[in-house]
Amino acid sequence: MDWKSRPSSRIRAIGRSDVADILKLSERPEIISFAGGLPDPDTFLVDEIARVAAEVLTDTGRAALGYGPTPGITPMREWLAERMTGWGRPTRVAETLVTTGGIAALDLLAGVLVDPGDVVVVGEPAYLAALHVFRSYRSQFAGVEVDQLGMVPDSLETALAELQHRGVKPALIYTVPSFQNPSGATLPGDRRRQLVDIAARFGVPIVADEAYRDLRFEGTSPPLLSALDPDNAIHINTFSKFFNPGMRLGWITAPAALIEPLIVAKQTQDQCSSTLGQYMCRAFARHGFVDRQIARAIEIYTRKRDAMVRALRTHMPPGVTFTRPEGGFYVWLTLPPGIDSGALLDTAINRENVAYVPGSSFFHHSEGQRHLRLCYSYVAETTIDEGIARLAGLLGHALDNL
Ligand SMILES: Cc1ncc(COP(=O)(O)O)c(C=O)c1O
Repeated sequence: MDWKSRPSSRIRAIGRSDVADILKLSERPEIISFAGGLPDPDTFLVDEIARVAAEVLTDTGRAALGYGPTPGITPMREWLAERMTGWGRPTRVAETLVTTGGIAALDLLAGVLVDPGDVVVVGEPAYLAALHVFRSYRSQFAGVEVDQLGMVPDSLETALAELQHRGVKPALIYTVPSFQNPSGATLPGDRRRQLVDIAARFGVPIVADEAYRDLRFEGTSPPLLSALDPDNAIHINTFSKFFNPGMRLGWITAPAALIEPLIVAKQTQDQCSSTLGQYMCRAFARHGFVDRQIARAIEIYTRKRDAMVRALRTHMPPGVTFTRPEGGFYVWLTLPPGIDSGALLDTAINRENVAYVPGSSFFHHSEGQRHLRLCYSYVAETTIDEGIARLAGLLGHALDNL
């Protein structure tokens, strides 16, 4: 069989995934990889996880090993509803859906809201796996500017007005409001209000992916988009960054009328998310371990963020600028004109033994060459300075040769 010619047009539309190749680099010990957005395994509370695993198997016996209800087990949905209510978005159980991680949540939403040819509005740079998910549903894109404070409201309004003028109603707006992947930017409260107002005025749902919200190192959290507009703003989240990605759990909070078709979509996606994982997660939270893990993660990531910012200030040649995120995993670099981060990647990996993700991966068409994303969460703290020095040397050399 010629398998190369078999993949459907839906899968071919995604294109080749550069992320998969770049993630593999973390397995090569000689490479200091700032590429993959992986949590630091030192943040995982292994003993506590072993304790809740034993407890769940004793207390719930076979229930935790069977299939569960498609929208999630009730104690888990109740806890999520409580958590969202505590975050300022009053939530009923019927407004929550447990998913198999953040990407699965996005895939469900795209399956329910996006028809082939529909326009999805994304802030760019955008989380690249989200672009892949929307592409797999044959979407088109309208890009909106993201600056150091996240999605720019005027840019959103202009994009929606232009689409309206052409008679196009977008399927949804996608944004990562806190410590955005890849820019590290966080939307302040006033921008959040403006964005939900604009989205509601044009009648377009806004999907807020809050994967990193819990990992705030300083300052206070602005309101959730879904707290500002519970009807039109859909909240998605993942346990991958503050619990562990191995559990494969996430959730969606949305009006009950949208949860219903999402449940239908989930029946063809995976029928239910890990029942064992949900019971364990619920028990983990009940013991206060979620808060303990978040506190530990914040401590570790704050040190790593500081080490990276310090190294960038020390080593980067003039003309290179970078963000200083208040949380999350990522720093976004802007390079002087004439330097292309994609063209330098091969030399970075194979000569300097340092890896990053080129900026162009985060745009729906060819843009972003003057940017790159650095992730500080996974790399050993003690190697951050050396890795940044190598990268700075490479960029300095490229600048000298302009
Ligand atoms: C913004 C954002 N959403 C979702 C995810 C993916 O979550 P999960 O691994 O749970 O599918 C990530 C992971 O990098 C992310 O950065």
